[in-house]
Amino acid sequence: MEHLVINGQRQLCGEVSISGAKNAAVAIIPAAIMAQGKCVIENLPSIEDVYSLVDTLTNIGARCEFVNDNTLVVDSSNIIKYCATYESVKKIRASYYLMGALLGRFKKAEVAMPGGCNFGTRPIDQHLKGFKALGAEYTISHGIVKLSAQKLVGSNIYLDMPSVGATINIMLAASMAEGVTVIENAAKEPHIVDTANFLNMLGARVKGAGTDVIKITGVSELHGAEYMIIPDQIEAGTYMIAGAMAGGDVLVKNIIPKHMDPLSAKLQDMGCVIYEGDDSIRVISTGNLNPTTVKTMTYPGFPTDLQPQMTALLCVANGTSILTENVWDNRFQYINELKRLGGNITVEGRVAVVEGVRQLMGAEVNATDLRAGAALVIAGLAAKGITTIGNVKYIDRGYEKIERKFSELGADIRRVKSE
Ligand code: EPZ
Repeated sequence: MEHLVINGQRQLCGEVSISGAKNAAVAIIPAAIMAQGKCVIENLPSIEDVYSLVDTLTNIGARCEFVNDNTLVVDSSNIIKYCATYESVKKIRASYYLMGALLGRFKKAEVAMPGGCNFGTRPIDQHLKGFKALGAEYTISHGIVKLSAQKLVGSNIYLDMPSVGATINIMLAASMAEGVTVIENAAKEPHIVDTANFLNMLGARVKGAGTDVIKITGVSELHGAEYMIIPDQIEAGTYMIAGAMAGGDVLVKNIIPKHMDPLSAKLQDMGCVIYEGDDSIRVISTGNLNPTTVKTMTYPGFPTDLQPQMTALLCVANGTSILTENVWDNRFQYINELKRLGGNITVEGRVAVVEGVRQLMGAEVNATDLRAGAALVIAGLAAKGITTIGNVKYIDRGYEKIERKFSELGADIRRVKSE
């Protein structure tokens, strides 16, 4: 087991370079299954979710090779299996993208139900609705989703809600269906646009990604390509919030500032000074913060994946803040851990009322999921005394070298192996 040990109350100053987007990587790697030939995927984050997916692709016959820490070559020419077992997919939620990719290529797929973060129910009914509309039949038994289709035929699909996963999964399968598929009420997150751009590099014909109507004209074969993943919007936001909370002057580099707009606006409301560059954002904070209200929404609204980190920040604002979680039905399980650090938070359903306190105090806490773990790191960096964070494996799923990046900003944080 490993945990992070933080000695808090040090200002953060300096530069941090953001890695490739996890939620783009976990879609683009499975998408490479559909390519007859080699894909070279650059700017991959060096995180556990990427390694889990590479293991899965290797298990079904793809040839995967890291040419450096952040560049992967995938050759799917000789994939013969369309089954992804529970052993290989249990650690990662985004294993569901294997369904769309395998169905697209083989018109068959057998994939264990997704694992991943333990907050709220994480259904896939909209994914299955899309696959059925394309002509696939499916059964779910013993935790395995089995899909098959004589052939996939384009169709019009109206999503009940703008689901990121369903939008991407349908896009994958529809890329190799016969005819035209239109997805309406589609999600618009940056990683959806990135996945669509990758598919088009493979020879797919996807139009409208980033809007709520996506049109896919299916093709019979996809070829290999070289592609660079976009920077991670959520990792960038995590470091911006950490700078705001600890106080200091942090330059977050290698990002797309436009993706950070909802967070930059909130941090300015709270009293931070924000300078936007072409591919960077500078956050200057005294640590003396105004309270605010936050409502998570699908993109381009405030990202739900920055909700835990924002709640940590609100714990030390000068007054009462209100945060409403509109995407997930139960994404506050980490609150008790923040309370152990001295946070004064009351949760009613989807609403958290946060009374700012003068000072958080270090404590022993455990990450309950990926972004909750990041929130505890941020809170520990601002807290007085020592904070130890267990279940670091959750954090490593989505953050590359988190302790090194924070140390380079002046934090006193280290990773400790424990029995
Ligand atoms: C993706 O999850 C992200 N994961 C999540 O990030 C993120 O929180 C979420 O999108 C929202 O932005 C990946 O991209 C791997 P959804 P996903 O389908 O696709 C309901 C992280 O920290 N829904 O957009 O599973 C669902 O219950 C992770 O990086 C259905 O009801 O999210 C939720 O309330 C955590 N039926 C809402 O829609 C479905 O078939 C949004 O879910 C699908 C979703």
